[in-house]
Amino acid sequence: MQRIALIGLSGSGKTTVGQLLAQTLGWNYIDIDQQVEAQAQQPITEIITQAGEAAFRRLESQALTAALSETNVVIATGGGIVEDPANRERLRESAFTVWLHAPVGSLVQRLAGTTDRPLLADGPEARLSQMLSRRAPLYAAIADWMLATKRLSTTQVVDEILRGYRLQRPAADPAELRVTTPGGSYTVHAGHGVLDELPGWIERLGLRGKLWLISDTTVFPLHGERVCRLLRDSGRTVQAHAIPAGEQYKNLATVSQVYGWLLEQSVERGDAILALGGGVVGDLAGFVAASVLRGIAVIQLPTTVLAMVDSAIGGKTGVDHAVGKNLIGAFHQPALVLADTSMLPTLDAAERAAGWAEAIKHGVIGDAELFAELKRHARAVLSLQEPITGTLIRRAAAHKVQVVSGDEREHGGRIMLNYGHTIGHAIEIESGFTLRHGEAVAIGMMAAGLIAVKLGLFDAAALDEQREVLAAFGLPTRIPATIDAQRVLQRIGSDKKVRSKRVRWVLPTQIGATIVRDDVPLELVAEVIAETQASEA
Ligand SMILES: NC(=O)c1ccc[n+]([C@@H]2O[C@H](COP(=O)([O-])OP(=O)(O)OC[C@H]3O[C@@H](n4cnc5c(N)ncnc54)[C@H](O)[C@@H]3O)[C@@H](O)[C@H]2O)c1
Ligand SMILES: [Zn+2]
Repeated sequence: MQRIALIGLSGSGKTTVGQLLAQTLGWNYIDIDQQVEAQAQQPITEIITQAGEAAFRRLESQALTAALSETNVVIATGGGIVEDPANRERLRESAFTVWLHAPVGSLVQRLAGTTDRPLLADGPEARLSQMLSRRAPLYAAIADWMLATKRLSTTQVVDEILRGYRLQRPAADPAELRVTTPGGSYTVHAGHGVLDELPGWIERLGLRGKLWLISDTTVFPLHGERVCRLLRDSGRTVQAHAIPAGEQYKNLATVSQVYGWLLEQSVERGDAILALGGGVVGDLAGFVAASVLRGIAVIQLPTTVLAMVDSAIGGKTGVDHAVGKNLIGAFHQPALVLADTSMLPTLDAAERAAGWAEAIKHGVIGDAELFAELKRHARAVLSLQEPITGTLIRRAAAHKVQVVSGDEREHGGRIMLNYGHTIGHAIEIESGFTLRHGEAVAIGMMAAGLIAVKLGLFDAAALDEQREVLAAFGLPTRIPATIDAQRVLQRIGSDKKVRSKRVRWVLPTQIGATIVRDDVPLELVAEVIAETQASEA
């Protein structure tokens, strides 16, 4: 939306700010009052005395509609334009609307001496207060950005508007994905080399405080220096801390150490944490960010395939407890996610494949085209060819973005992401974590798919296709013989995703579509587990 509209009472600086803003952007400037006067060929005071205020408002609405049909425009509106609900709706829909707010005292000062503000002819101070109390809620209701202009110069006001506009604009780069949740809106950018944009993003996000990089002892030596240098070269202060690598350190003891590191160096509310690593670092650093000083900003810089297409997006943060995985945590949306595939070559090939299992899952549950692309490009992606790797990471991330945008707290659609996880989790634990999460999920997807086939929901040929793609990525599709099928079955009943004792199964109906069923008989599950373990197919 290449339109910025300025709203606010007369005297709040809309004209001067609007002109400078338009000049800065190289856009056209439209002043609605001037348009009305040109149209009527008389000053507004005369329109009102001769034809009445209603006639003036009609002309004003027409001029607004015309202005909003143009692009690359800055529009300065009259103070009363928001009185008409239709005008409010138009502004809300079609422009980035900025409310310039100034207290009545300074409005009176700025308006002193002008005679062409008809509605203020008598007793400006009282009239203005009255107007402000009536219109403030109307301005607030439609403003995308609000600025208190009293202590700011025109240039500063323009800078602040531009900052707001850049933050809230819909993604201009098609490679940028936008997550929108009640807990915050942010960009997810994936591709080869996107990390280089980090300093620019931090600037645009208005993160002016210190930066605290959290990584792990494997990732930091490989990629940490690059990130620190990038930031220091742009004049930023950054401190780094590496936690020990591995899921066994994703716990409260590590969180406590990180708190100590931050607090002893006087971390502040305006600072930001950068999480550089796989899902373990992302979850733990995200949880630290959610809780230290009651919450500071976090930027996710995922370095594994799994983190790029899954864990870095969606705002679920947390750590494990002796009783179980991921039992302590908080929802805390990041300010930004940059997934740079140039960091993937150092990651173990089996770890990469495990991450792709989640991407294949995204395809099966909601993006048939992604599934087809993964099938077609499996070899290229496994050997990290670009730009296809970046493209498919982005496409898989886009699916996660879409799901969490509709369902931040897992009340609805987000449950689909659990496809393959009910049996997968149980197998992962029963393997004593010798199976990677993604490997266990791959097997879990085969089992869930088979349940769907047996219920007549899913085509056996589609299940075969799923198996082929998983196998092409080097992922297992059968339960290892060493695993005790009976114990897997028992575990399914104690999964935390189980609501009131009924297991909610996410089952595919075709590649790209799933449903949830809570009426799958346990005998059928047992049968499927047995077949998934024995079958050589
Ligand atoms: N928050 C969520 O929504 C969500 C979703 C899925 C999974 N998770 C969590 O994610 C975690 C798993 O994430 P993961 O698979 O990324 O594991 P991980 O973070 O443990 O990373 C795997 C290993 O690879 C190393 N590594 C990471 N990036 C590397 C790189 N570029 N080069 C070389 N080595 C690298 C790590 O040091 C680690 O040893 C689990 O704790 C899981 O619970 C969270
Ligand atoms: Zn998973």
